[in-house]
Amino acid sequence: MNKQTVQKLNLFGGGILSRWEENQALFLEVSGQYKSGAVTYPFTVSFDGETYKLTFQKECMKGLFPELFTSLLSKANLYDELELTYADRTGRLILHGDAKNVTTKSDNRVMEPSKAEEKHLISPKAANKLLTVLDFVTDQGKLKNTHVRKFTQAEHFIELLVPYIKKLPADREIMVYDLACGKSYLSFFLNFYLCDVLKRRCRIIGVDIRDDVVEASKKIRDELKYYNMDFYCADILEFEPPTRMDIAVSLHACDVATDFAIAAAVNNGAQICAIAPCCHKEFLPTIGNEEMPYLFENGIFKKRFSDLLTDIYRVKTMEEHGYNVTATEFVSPLETPKNLLILAEKTKNASPKGEATKEIKRAFGVDPILEKLIF
Ligand SMILES: C[S@@+](CC[C@H](N)C(=O)[O-])C[C@H]1O[C@@H](n2cnc3c(N)ncnc32)[C@H](O)[C@@H]1O
Repeated sequence: MNKQTVQKLNLFGGGILSRWEENQALFLEVSGQYKSGAVTYPFTVSFDGETYKLTFQKECMKGLFPELFTSLLSKANLYDELELTYADRTGRLILHGDAKNVTTKSDNRVMEPSKAEEKHLISPKAANKLLTVLDFVTDQGKLKNTHVRKFTQAEHFIELLVPYIKKLPADREIMVYDLACGKSYLSFFLNFYLCDVLKRRCRIIGVDIRDDVVEASKKIRDELKYYNMDFYCADILEFEPPTRMDIAVSLHACDVATDFAIAAAVNNGAQICAIAPCCHKEFLPTIGNEEMPYLFENGIFKKRFSDLLTDIYRVKTMEEHGYNVTATEFVSPLETPKNLLILAEKTKNASPKGEATKEIKRAFGVDPILEKLIF
């Protein structure tokens, strides 16, 4: 290739380097080939989570991505033609250069769902690798009966979150925290949906008190090469987020761990919170009302009333801290009785203070931990 072509290649190469700088955690691979006459010289640049590796002409070089990429382009003058594909999770950039011209084209295609898949927000076909690593699908790519429920829960949870996500500024990385992430199924699906479907840059941080689930999540992340995810073994109460918190999600954090998640979200100014509570134990021992003792005569009614009041208290607390809140059932109660999703969005228009939480405490003799956790 002549000098002019090489200069143009370097110019377009600079664009690829900028894309890498912005989307490093979403990097998948560079692949392609140089050609001279009928002979081809293939190359790849891969990443294993720690090291970038350039493989070219049976040689293997390790180093920083910009160095490897620049050294790859610097060989252009020795060949007639270059075909290079840069792939990250938001799409591909294809660079082509020969004696006549240098061109780039981007390919951000999302795999179209088949008719049978249209009901899915996350197409099992497009997400086959993710579902395989998570062990959600059979060898034929069909969702396993044992995992349909978990998949549906994650899908519906995300579906209800999407309108809120779309309101976040499009030009910056979305910082998501999954509080009490467990094995992080929700986070992995959310990551796929944000990056591979919506083509949005995001970083997802999972927190759980159990180190076995944190280690399991890290292993899945490495297998999927989802390097935009980090997992921390910590008590939500003591966890200090390393970045701003745009979105806080929490799916079935046990008992008051849901309150810990809400407090972490509010204290860290999360713009959006999506909280699906789990079991409720806190109010039951003390709940009562002197004027209406009959509300609590029946054990089941007492338990249900106490569960409901806990969630009402949570909603009112968030409202009093500047959030617009809705509560909805994200899956059918036949899927799980723990099907409530509290969706909250920080907004300047929400009334900052109110009396509801005080009234609940006074009327029902409860002493919610949530009140003490928010500062
Ligand atoms: C029922 S699991 C739900 C896990 C996951 N969100 C899911 O839906 O698959 C509840 C999780 O909460 C975690 N947890 C409970 N208390 C916690 C705390 N104080 N801090 C962090 N994680 C906590 C548990 O270790 C467990 O993994």
